[in-house]
Amino acid sequence: MTYENILVAEEEGIAVITFNRPKALNALNSNLLKELSQAVDAVAANSGIRVLVLTGAGEKAFVAGADIKELAGLSALQAKLFAKKGQDVINKLCALPIPVIAAVNGYALGGGTEMALACDFIYASENASMGLPETNLGLIPGFGGTQRLARLIGPNQAKEMIYTGKIIAAAQARELGLVNQVFPAEELMDEVMATARAMVSKGRVSLRAAKEAVNNGLDTDLSTGLKIEQDGFALCMVSEDAQEGTRAFIEKRKAVFKGRLA
Ligand code: CAA
Repeated sequence: MTYENILVAEEEGIAVITFNRPKALNALNSNLLKELSQAVDAVAANSGIRVLVLTGAGEKAFVAGADIKELAGLSALQAKLFAKKGQDVINKLCALPIPVIAAVNGYALGGGTEMALACDFIYASENASMGLPETNLGLIPGFGGTQRLARLIGPNQAKEMIYTGKIIAAAQARELGLVNQVFPAEELMDEVMATARAMVSKGRVSLRAAKEAVNNGLDTDLSTGLKIEQDGFALCMVSEDAQEGTRAFIEKRKAVFKGRLA
């Protein structure tokens, strides 16, 4: 399938979706959100894809936010539907049973930070910057930022960023725990792909169970979360990959995982 606002590539079990409106700093308009939703559906349906990477076209931006030109003048109901459209695709990304990495290669503002927050973790380039500057427009974040940023870096840090609308550099985003690692711009994609390949080499059942345990556990109390972990552990144990992994350890050889969901 070809798209107008995103690029989709696939290599060695890793899909890369690139936001591709560089003239508008990859701002998220309705068409882009619709195409992203279709692309995420295609990734979910393709059992050959083991890791997804999101990044932005050009050297300046990951995503500079929702498209302000499209937002201007919306009615309350239209604004609510626009926020829902963004939240629906972001929820779909979060629900993918494979690891999703954000490669933040420049501005990730507003909806851009919110898109990155939908990923399992974020690697950023040294020239990247992040923030939720919606209060500068008289708005608040609408694609999940008030909820996911507060859960990730804590309510006090999130409130300071949202109330002031300040934009922070990659290094500070790392200090806050928003970004996992920062690399020179020219090394970012190589580092992201190396991490993605390391994950492709693991058992598919175990990565899926690990993601479910962390994500579902965070939405519940500790004892329920620990039960989710027990169930995931048990499910992994009977997988072909766990049998291979444990046997390979005993036989002092490297495990060769087949990645079948069995
Ligand atoms: N929406 C639409 N167009 C955008 C955009 C956005 N979010 N961000 C940048 N652009 C466009 C600019 O209008 C400009 O287009 P023209 O050349 O046609 O005028 C082009 O991209 C380049 O941008 P600048 O000339 O502004 O580039 P700059 O280097 O001077 O500044 C910037 C870069 C600081 C990122 C600045 O563009 C900016 O502040 N962008 C808006 C950031 C923002 O407020 N994001 C939040 C949006 S609201 C939101 O996301 C709500 C939500 O939660 C869902």
